[in-house]
Amino acid sequence: MDDEMRPGEISVALPAEFDAGLYFIGRIRTPWSSRAECPRRGAHDGPLCRIEVDERWWPALRGLEGRRFIQALYFMHQARRDLLVQTPRGRETPLGTFALRSPVRPNPIASSVVQIEAIEHGTVIARGFDCMDGTPLIDIKPQD
Ligand SMILES: C[S@@+](CC[C@H](N)C(=O)[O-])C[C@H]1O[C@@H](n2cnc3c(N)ncnc32)[C@H](O)[C@@H]1O
Repeated sequence: MDDEMRPGEISVALPAEFDAGLYFIGRIRTPWSSRAECPRRGAHDGPLCRIEVDERWWPALRGLEGRRFIQALYFMHQARRDLLVQTPRGRETPLGTFALRSPVRPNPIASSVVQIEAIEHGTVIARGFDCMDGTPLIDIKPQD
């Protein structure tokens, strides 16, 4: 869909091997079933979303009760990874990947500070996401 090169964009050959591995620790459930439907940036008055943490990691949630905000890190699994210069939708001029918060980057890791509404049985209900339904979760950190 949105993966065709646009004028001015520059791609690069990716390295042959990865340097590290990740554990996906859960999934983020949102109302958006495609990238195009997602907001560009989440909002704390946005819709309720669910961070479904895999049961293995539930004890790691201890201590989050009572907190208002967390930083969620998630893996933009549908993003291409080979653009050095890109023109995200809505922009006119191309910019370097590291000058953008685009999901298209060598390591497509996104972060958002989300507002906790409730925590129940390994699920954190929160507002502030901008990712499509089923996006893999990488980490949760307290936001002071
Ligand atoms: C601009 S990024 C911002 C992500 C994060 N808030 C950040 O700043 O790191 C949000 C956009 O990524 C795209 N997106 C959402 N979920 C995705 C996924 N699982 N894979 C690839 N792209 C995704 C959507 O187009 C969405 O509007």
